[in-house]
Amino acid sequence: MTVITYSPADVVDPDLHASGEVFGLWRWMRQHTPVHWHEPGDLPGFWSLTRYDDIRQVYQDPAVFSSARGVLLRPVDLGEDPGSGRTMALTDPPRHRALRGQVADRFSERCARSLADEMRAEIRSVVTRAVEAGSCDVVHDIGARLSGYNIGRLLGVPPEDREQLLTWTTEAFESGKPLTSHLALMRYFIDMMYARMEKPADDAMGMFVDNEVQGELLTETEILLSCENLVGASENAGLSMASGILALAGHPRQWQRLVRERDDELLRTAAEEVLRWTSSATHSMRTATTDTVVGGRRIAAGDRVVLWIPSANRDGSVFTEPERFDLGRQPNRHLALGTGEHVCIGSTMARHQMRMLLETLVESVAVVEPAGDVEPLRSITVNGPAHAAVRLVAR
Ligand code: HEM
Repeated sequence: MTVITYSPADVVDPDLHASGEVFGLWRWMRQHTPVHWHEPGDLPGFWSLTRYDDIRQVYQDPAVFSSARGVLLRPVDLGEDPGSGRTMALTDPPRHRALRGQVADRFSERCARSLADEMRAEIRSVVTRAVEAGSCDVVHDIGARLSGYNIGRLLGVPPEDREQLLTWTTEAFESGKPLTSHLALMRYFIDMMYARMEKPADDAMGMFVDNEVQGELLTETEILLSCENLVGASENAGLSMASGILALAGHPRQWQRLVRERDDELLRTAAEEVLRWTSSATHSMRTATTDTVVGGRRIAAGDRVVLWIPSANRDGSVFTEPERFDLGRQPNRHLALGTGEHVCIGSTMARHQMRMLLETLVESVAVVEPAGDVEPLRSITVNGPAHAAVRLVAR
């Protein structure tokens, strides 16, 4: 019998995330040490939470678990996140609600529906190009391209500039440096911001510039940080779509079921299962504002807690056969998009886009199969492939 002993300290080892072994560690932690203290080192000290119920409790209580001191683990020597206390993801109520309200209209169900035809046409064209090419890198050619076009449209980037935006953001993500250090991208946003100050427009940049938050306009720095926040957060959508196609390639029976049944309800549950299975956002972080208790452990005011989302989404106390990729899964109360006050503002759009991608694949593709090695990301923040070749054969 092989006995594997895990060290919870390895939960922040990017290689364990890249190899997928972190899922075994999370399973072990859920059972043996679901609320686990990590000593400070390169990273600050923090509590690791791996069970669904504990993670949900923290998400649902923004008064006790603040977002204002950062929502992602950062090496201590980088200091505080520059967006702390300023951007939507990094503020608490009531300012958080006001910031969310500033751009809420762009993320509404109504807005997503009004864009549906345009998004569907875009998805068809991207899938057709991939099919014609024979094989493609699902990360760049499908995931990043679709999410890049989407975020470009949302911010108000004209269609002719969206490929350029995609190139800059891809380079910035690949370098692993903060988006704000990518000068060409920031210069582009600065020009756009000044253009909106001259001439208002009905897009997210126009809203950042024109809509007051608690009676005041955002500063120029806050506007640029807000753009960075949106572009960075939307990377998740591209990764989920790319990982979703890989999951279909790796589970031919599930793919065949989708092709065979093709009904709207299955497409809906399939999109949710892809979100659960791929869980492209790996963690959220909060800081306790007061002494409290989670999962029977005392958390002191000022302590950080890290919520491992893919672990919550494989918790067997909530999901039947959590290790099974089941496109018909119901119920499926996954936390891939967070929950509570900070639940993903892009979730409506991400769900529509995922459903439309699955629908397009089913309509136009007969075979989805791996066409080479998958190079995984070495990241504790986002989960998915860095590159993955897949062959899509036309129907
Ligand atoms: C499958 C795709 C996506 C996944 C898995 C995902 C995941 C998440 C998660 C887990 C959160 C909660 C973070 C927290 O509570 O600290 C979040 C928040 C957020 N997401 Fe997404 N996201 C996705 C798509 C998008 C898209 C397409 C956009 C933008 C167009 C976006 C923008 C945001 C923003 C701005 C927040 C912060 C909301 C707030 O603090 O109120 N996300 N996302």
